[in-house]
Amino acid sequence: MKIKDLEFENFIGSDIIRQKVTELAEQINLAYDGKAPVFLPILNGSFVFASDLIKQISLPCRVSFVKISSYQGVQSTGKLKTLIGHEESFFHQDVIIVEDVIDSGLTLEKIVEELKSLGARTVGVAALLRKRTARERGIAAKFIGFDIDNEFVLGYGLDYEGFGRNLNDLMRAKLA
Ligand code: IMP
Ligand code: MG
Repeated sequence: MKIKDLEFENFIGSDIIRQKVTELAEQINLAYDGKAPVFLPILNGSFVFASDLIKQISLPCRVSFVKISSYQGVQSTGKLKTLIGHEESFFHQDVIIVEDVIDSGLTLEKIVEELKSLGARTVGVAALLRKRTARERGIAAKFIGFDIDNEFVLGYGLDYEGFGRNLNDLMRAKLA
């Protein structure tokens, strides 16, 4: 499949994703038993994952969104723009950040820092994908769907230049 200048191939199919998301939800339900966490999906990329995950959460919980962008094309710029701020109070809350993919980890580090300064009691992370860069930088996250290589992926909410978010499967860019 071609999107703009890039050719994409099948990577992780929707059945495997569904099974993994169910596992993650079960892990979160167990780990936060007795608590009422606040889920914080990072827009735009995590909206599909967050939706599927949160539907399987059996805890009392709230959901709040932030929009942050560090990406242009297939590269992280390293500069973060906070585009929409949250409205909830995170003071003394157990917050679970929901991220589509952790690449450099810069987005995550910034949000974790901000949540701690707002007085969050605990900050957890649920990420569908984690790239090799993040692992090498020691970016920890408790609930990881798939550890992948440094490849550019799209589908299931993730985009390339705004396209591909609607695909049910994850695709990856073919190397030229
Ligand atoms: P980081 O700050 O470098 O960890 O970048 C994280 C953000 O960049 C993610 O939330 C995604 O929105 C975006 N991103 C990183 N890698 C990819 C990719 O392979 N496909 C689409 N978006 C990506
Ligand atoms: Mg994102």
